[in-house]
Amino acid sequence: MSTNRKWIPVRKSHLHYYDDIPLYYRTPSGNITLYKPAGMTFTDESLSRKYSIDEYFIHPENRLQSIESAQRGFNSELLKKLSGPDISELKNSLVDLVEETLSAPRAGGLTRIPQTVNQMVTGFSERPNILKNFAKISFNDYTTALHSANVMALTIGFCYYTSLSENETRKLGLAALLHDIGKTEVPSHLLKASRRLSDEEFEKIKQHPAFGFEILKLYREEEIREAALGAIEHHEKLDGSGYPEGKQQISFIGRVLAIIDCYEAITNDDRPYRTALSPLNALELIKKDVDKGQLDREIFRGFAYSLTNFKKSS
Ligand SMILES: [Fe+2]
Ligand SMILES: [Fe+2]
Repeated sequence: MSTNRKWIPVRKSHLHYYDDIPLYYRTPSGNITLYKPAGMTFTDESLSRKYSIDEYFIHPENRLQSIESAQRGFNSELLKKLSGPDISELKNSLVDLVEETLSAPRAGGLTRIPQTVNQMVTGFSERPNILKNFAKISFNDYTTALHSANVMALTIGFCYYTSLSENETRKLGLAALLHDIGKTEVPSHLLKASRRLSDEEFEKIKQHPAFGFEILKLYREEEIREAALGAIEHHEKLDGSGYPEGKQQISFIGRVLAIIDCYEAITNDDRPYRTALSPLNALELIKKDVDKGQLDREIFRGFAYSLTNFKKSS
């Protein structure tokens, strides 16, 4: 797995995750200098005095260790937030975690993500009422990380209301969270473009399922490798009109994600060049693709049923 050789910027709000890692900062003259060695915590008085620093960095050699360290911190925060009253906090943490992870998926950054999803599935099974809120919260800043978190929440809701086993829910939840991981290798100006893309540009975006497949297959962990199927198939259609392969035989994970991914994208306000639809209008639009034989009817019914139940319990 390759490692990016550049200094890695760290958000100020995340500094406390990096107690075990040396941190660096940029001096006024532009040099990058050691800020604290590994093992020094941010409660140390010597550190709190250096209040005017704007940019912190991690050495490229510590990249993987830093992602693991941040994920440990995020996972333990998620556990606390799962039992707390504030769902938006929980979702913020998850989005932060996914953003951090997206920074280096080929370098091994996904290793702890199954643990995150397991925690969420267990937490959601114990408290189904938090599920509906989790799926409902909208953010202004629409990113792949947020979209992925939303698709995961909707997928876990679908599994819950269609009575899939906890094991099945974990697999689908993880595949949902990682389905667009290949977008990390598509130029971000194309993902953010607020204009209609040229055919050539759209072809580049259409490579993300295959990139995602490659990335997830790099992992030793069985559950991450299994999520690769969802990544490569989530834009396939049952009539062969999808991409990248134009397959007609699509796995259950691929068929579920095709519907939920589409629903999430069209109900969200902040996608470039799109106008958000209401849940009902979105379902009507997706039903047209079901009627054309592109999407799975049974899964569509189950998903619509799960959304109705989110509503009823709110
Ligand atoms: Fe996608
Ligand atoms: Fe997606």
